[in-house]
Amino acid sequence: MLRRALLGVSRSSTIKNLVVKAPVTSNVVERFVAGETVDEVVAATRRLTGAGLSVTIDHLGEDTRDQAQADQVAQAYLDLLARLRDSGLSDRAEVSVKLSALGQFVGSDGERIAFENAELICGAARNARTTVTLDMEDHTTTDSTLGILRELRKDFPATGAVLQAYLHRTEADCHDLAYVGSRVRLCKGAYAEPESVAFTDQADVDKSYVRCAKILLAGAGYPMLATHDPRLVKIGQQLAADHDRALDSFEFQMLYGIRPTEQQRLANLGHRVRVYVPYGTDWYGYLVRRLAERPANLTFFARSLMTRS
Ligand code: FDA
Repeated sequence: MLRRALLGVSRSSTIKNLVVKAPVTSNVVERFVAGETVDEVVAATRRLTGAGLSVTIDHLGEDTRDQAQADQVAQAYLDLLARLRDSGLSDRAEVSVKLSALGQFVGSDGERIAFENAELICGAARNARTTVTLDMEDHTTTDSTLGILRELRKDFPATGAVLQAYLHRTEADCHDLAYVGSRVRLCKGAYAEPESVAFTDQADVDKSYVRCAKILLAGAGYPMLATHDPRLVKIGQQLAADHDRALDSFEFQMLYGIRPTEQQRLANLGHRVRVYVPYGTDWYGYLVRRLAERPANLTFFARSLMTRS
């Protein structure tokens, strides 16, 4: 309920200004965001890969409304990929992109603009010998994003997809995407969705996650289990063993700053663990989703706001 309310109210520009300008915000942001610049995210990537973890980097931003801005986002990814290649980090670091940041909603040409930008990024990733994963946004974008994924995979078959267990449709999407070479990140889902399309009870979301993980781990693709939930991590390990999955035939994924000790523990056990590392100045939407996931984060944030003002 609180999560829904927070995700809803976050769309107000007054609230956004309040949060972005609050002096305390930077401490909270630092916990979840690796920095504002390429230098900072490259340093964080070096630290994480040095500890045996893999990385997927997100240049923060979403919901771009004009082509110039979409092209700037694409250029930021091209610069980032060149830096990863030149720093020798691209064997363990890939990128995650949001199609809405690449122009998916720029008028009637949005899908074409987003596709062309994503194609450029996939080309640069291939030159750097790494990959791209398309983040998944709210349910109104799912068909469009999976359509663009299908097109991209014709030339770039390693392009990763994201499926959200809270959507009713996702079991069927898992079946469709469980084929050889198909990289699929399975997450619970981070947006406020209506009952008509999504499970809204957490227990139902968790059950759906398990059903989807079963399909992906039984299939021929490369599942990427993105969750911090200790129960689901354990179930993921068990299902992988049940299906005789080699340790390099699937991976766990977690977000930067969340359960870092668990990330390291799983890597020390021999699992592939990839950390999703966001950077950039446009962190507001990302931060709100992280606060909404966990009331304790929100309480900490609210208390800090009150004591500073
Ligand atoms: P859950 O929210 O139940 O949390 C389980 C436990 O993890 C908590 O009890 C707590 O210990 C810890 N935890 C979780 N969130 C925390 C937080 N914010 N702060 C502190 N502790 C926290 N979503 C989406 O819609 N589209 C996408 O493309 C992606 N991409 C993505 C990539 C990766 C690598 C991850 C890990 C997640 C995503 N997500 C996402 C977000 C995902 O949908 C989901 O909202 C979060 O992962 C939280 O769900 P959990 O599975 O972690 O469980």
